[in-house]
Amino acid sequence: MNKTFYVTTPIYYVNDVPHLGHAYATLVADTLARYHRLAGYDTYFLTGTDEHGEKIWKVVQALGRSPQEYVDEISESGFKALWQRWGLSNDDFIRTTQTRHVKYVQSILQRLYDAGDIYFAEYEGLYSIGSERYVTEKELVEGADGVKRLPGDRDPPELRREANYFFKLEKYRPWLIEYLETHPNLIEPVSYRNEVIEMLREPIGDLSISRPVGRLPWGIPIPWDVGDVCYVWFDALLNYVSALGGEGDPKFETYWRSTWHLVGKDILKTHSVFWLPMLKAAGLPIYEKLVVHAHILGFDGRKMGKSLGNAVDPIEMEEKYGIDALRYALLRETTFQADSAFGEKILVGRLNSDLANDLGNLLSRVLSMLEKFHDGIIPVPDELGSREEGIKAAALKLPDTILEEVRGLRFHVAIEKTMEFVRDLNRYVAETKPWELAKLEDKTRLNTVLYTLVEGIRVASVLLEPVIPNQAKEIRKQLGLELHYTLEPAWGLAKSGSQIASAGVLFPKVELKETPIVTPETPPAPVLETPPAQEFIGIEDFAKVQLRVAEVLACERIPKADKLLKLTVAIGEERRTILSGIAEYYTPEDLIGKRVVVVANLAPRKMRGIESQGMILAATDENGKVVIVSPERLVPSGVEVR
Ligand code: MSP
Repeated sequence: MNKTFYVTTPIYYVNDVPHLGHAYATLVADTLARYHRLAGYDTYFLTGTDEHGEKIWKVVQALGRSPQEYVDEISESGFKALWQRWGLSNDDFIRTTQTRHVKYVQSILQRLYDAGDIYFAEYEGLYSIGSERYVTEKELVEGADGVKRLPGDRDPPELRREANYFFKLEKYRPWLIEYLETHPNLIEPVSYRNEVIEMLREPIGDLSISRPVGRLPWGIPIPWDVGDVCYVWFDALLNYVSALGGEGDPKFETYWRSTWHLVGKDILKTHSVFWLPMLKAAGLPIYEKLVVHAHILGFDGRKMGKSLGNAVDPIEMEEKYGIDALRYALLRETTFQADSAFGEKILVGRLNSDLANDLGNLLSRVLSMLEKFHDGIIPVPDELGSREEGIKAAALKLPDTILEEVRGLRFHVAIEKTMEFVRDLNRYVAETKPWELAKLEDKTRLNTVLYTLVEGIRVASVLLEPVIPNQAKEIRKQLGLELHYTLEPAWGLAKSGSQIASAGVLFPKVELKETPIVTPETPPAPVLETPPAQEFIGIEDFAKVQLRVAEVLACERIPKADKLLKLTVAIGEERRTILSGIAEYYTPEDLIGKRVVVVANLAPRKMRGIESQGMILAATDENGKVVIVSPERLVPSGVEVR
C-alpha cells in the first residue's frame, strides 16, 4: 500500500501580515512535506488563513474597512503571496471565509446539535481576545506591571457574561484521558503530551461555541439560530477536514488518517483539549499526530509576535540572505522542545560556517578540480579503496537515518548529520590531495577520487533538498547532474561522461554590518567584602580550566543507572560523550538541542564502562534541584567561556 502523509500548519489570523514566527511554522511544515515526498510518501500539505473572530473584527472596526475586503487583502497579498514567492510546496490554501469551509462547519454544528451535544446557557468568564478563548485563573501569569494575563498576550482577559451555545466538552474528558494514555505518541515531543494530561486532571468545563451577532456579527452563522455566529476556534479547527472535502471525499479518505498537525505550543490546548473531543463527537477519525514546536524569541527574549512589537519581517531577511539560507538557519538553530533566539547574527553565522564554508567550498573546489584535471567531465571511477568504501557506506545509510531524525522532529540533528558527511568529504579532499594525483601518469586514482566527491555531493544535495530546495537543485545543475532524485539509498547515480556547467559561487560569505546595541548605563560595581587571601586563585590557575559551549546532539538514559544520562555533545566540530548525574532532574528530550557549558579539558573518566569526556556545569537550586548552566543567548557551540 502507498504510504500517505498529510501535514497541516495552523491557519494564521489575518489581523496583520505574516512575521517570522508564522514563516517558521510554515517552513517547518514545508520541509516535513518535502522529506516525505522525497521518501515516496503520497503527501498533501495544507496551510491557510483564519479569518473570523473578535480579534479581526476589532481591527476592521478600527480601520473602518469592510471585513471581507480586509481579510481578502491580508490573506491573498500577505500570506498566500509570501508562500508563493518562496515557492512553498503547499497543495492547497484554505480560507475560513470560503464557501466550502462555511458549509462544512455548519454541517458539523448541525450534526452535534442533533446529537444533543450542544445546549444553550448563560455564562460568565474571562475572555482573552489575543488568544481568542476563555481562560482559567490558573493559566494567567502576573506581569512586571502586576497585571495578570495569558503568557504571550499583550492585554489582560476581559470579564464576559452572556448567553451562548455550549459544546459538552466535559463529557468527553474521561474518553480523552484514556485516548491519550493508550496513544503515547499522539502528541510529540512528549513534554507537551504531559502538559495536556496535566490540564485534564481537573474538570475542563463545557466549551462556549457561539457569540451573539449583536456583539460580534463577523462569523459563520449558527444554522438553527440567526441570532448567533460560531466561535472562531470551533470554526477554525474544522479547516483541516473541510479542506479535504469532508467524509466521503477521495482526498479525505486518502489522507485524513495520516494527519500530522504542526502547531506552536501556544495553541496546544485548542488542538488537544478542544479538537480531540470535537472529532470524537462528530464521529471523525482521530488525527495521527499533533506535532508541537516551541517559539522563536524576539530581541527582547519574549515570544516573537506583532502585538509585542518584537516581530522580525521575514521578507527583509529573505531579501538580504535568500530563502534557502533563512530556511537552513531556522531549522538548524531551533529545537521543538525549547524556545530559540533568532536574528540576523545567528543566520549569518550559519550561512558562513555551514553553507559557505563547508558546503560551498567543497562544491567550488570539486568543480574547479574537475575543470582543471578532467576537462569539466565527470570521470569513470576505478576500484574503490577503503576510504571510498567508507564514504559510500555512509551515503547509503544516511537517507534512512535522516528520515528517522526528521520524523522524530529533530531537524537540527538531521542537518548536523548531513553536514558531518559534507565535512568528511572536505577531509577526504585534504587527505587524497587530487592536485598531486593529477601529476601522476596513471589517472585511475584521480578519477576515483573525483567521482567519489561528485557522488558524495550529489547524495548530500538530496539529503539537504527539503531544507534548501533551490540551492540543492543549483548544486546539481552546476555538477551537470540530473535535477531529480529520491531519498532511496543509492550510490553511483552521477553519470560519468557528463559535462559540468559553468559555475557561479553558490553561497558567498557575507559580512554582517553590526548595528550598535544600546545598553543602559552600567551601574557601579558593588564593593565586595574581601575574602581571606587563601580563597583566591590566580588568573593562571583559572586559565587551566577550559570551559566551552557545547550543543547536546543526542541524549539517552543508561540502563540500570538511575542517576546518569549519556550525552553526545558537539564542541564546535568535535563530538564527545559525557556522562552526567542529572537523570532525576532532566529527561533526554529536555536536553537535546540545548547549549550547555562543559569543562572540556577534564581528564576522561570511566563510569559504568563508558568513558566520560568532560563535565557539564550545573547549579543546585534552593530545593536541592539540579539546574544546568546554559548561555543566556544562543552562541555557537565550541566558543570559549571565560
Ligand atoms: N488562528 C490560530 C490558529 C488556528 S489553527 C486551527 C492562530 N493563529 S496565529 O496567527 O496566531 O498563528 C499561531 C501560530 O503561528 C503558532 O502556533 C505558531 O505555529 C506560529 N507562530 C506565531 N508566532 C510564533 C513565534 N514567535 N515562534 C514560532 N512560531 C510562531 O493561533
